[in-house]
Amino acid sequence: MSLKGRDIVAITDLDINEIEIILKEAERMVPAARGEVKNDLLSGKILASLFFEASTRTRLSFETAMHRLGGDVITIAGQEGSSLIKGETLADTIRMAEGYSDIIAIRHPKEGAARLSATFSRIPVINGGDGAGQHPTQTLLDLFTIQQNHGDISKLHVTIGGDLKYGRTTHSLSLALGRMGARMTFVAPKRIQMVDHILDDLNRMDASFEMAYDIKDTIEDTDVLYMTRIQKERFPDVEEYMKVAGGFRITAEMLEPAKKNMIVMHPLPRVDEIHFSVDDTPHAKYFQQAFNGVPVRMALLHLLLEE
Ligand code: NCD
Repeated sequence: MSLKGRDIVAITDLDINEIEIILKEAERMVPAARGEVKNDLLSGKILASLFFEASTRTRLSFETAMHRLGGDVITIAGQEGSSLIKGETLADTIRMAEGYSDIIAIRHPKEGAARLSATFSRIPVINGGDGAGQHPTQTLLDLFTIQQNHGDISKLHVTIGGDLKYGRTTHSLSLALGRMGARMTFVAPKRIQMVDHILDDLNRMDASFEMAYDIKDTIEDTDVLYMTRIQKERFPDVEEYMKVAGGFRITAEMLEPAKKNMIVMHPLPRVDEIHFSVDDTPHAKYFQQAFNGVPVRMALLHLLLEE
């Protein structure tokens, strides 16, 4: 089935075969993503990049991806730069963007905002993160990075640590890994362990996962350690945040018992979950992961806009 014209709101909007198609296309995009070859596959097309919440990597790599494909970009960066702040509804904003562009990438602090946008838009909508909901394009670049380093994902043990309650990247990633047959361990303080609705989905798909409370217990047997930031901005009160802040940190020393080819990933930004000492170890792959946002988003934009 063609991906042309589709919305990508949740990672489960794509089946495994479609994910593989995107990852293969991403591989082909790498030289153009690096700027080594010129490419104008999307010349004449416009991406509306609507980011109503803070972003560095996601917005910039979406925009770089569109430029590297010879397309153009219009941008809203932050609610204060748009009429949402004047009280315009999201629906009206989307109707405008639809008239000005060919495809929309949206980030919004409210869970469900991307799905709502997709219902109002006749052009494809890509979710660049909706509150504590999902972040499917992050998952695509995460999977791409895992494949680059390990090949077959189904044989891997992935430890996902940090804020699994509010961390949307972990929601999308675990649903994808679960379907691909990887084994997962969720490591988090109790208050921010994986949310029930994701656990229910994982159980329904018969995914293999367990819970742990200390990375030290799982490190030796892990192929991918996926760390995440405590999502401070999503805690309903500061007291709740203070109870979990700072309790989760890895250092180079902690990684000594790990397998040689174990990789450490992080969607970034990191606050203090990964000590700088890890950066100099061969395990650190988070900067490679951040670059991969460009070829993966190029692949996605191309497949959603062209046959
Ligand atoms: C993540 C996000 O926005 O969900 N960042 C990203 O897109 N690379 C992770 C985070 O903010 O902690």
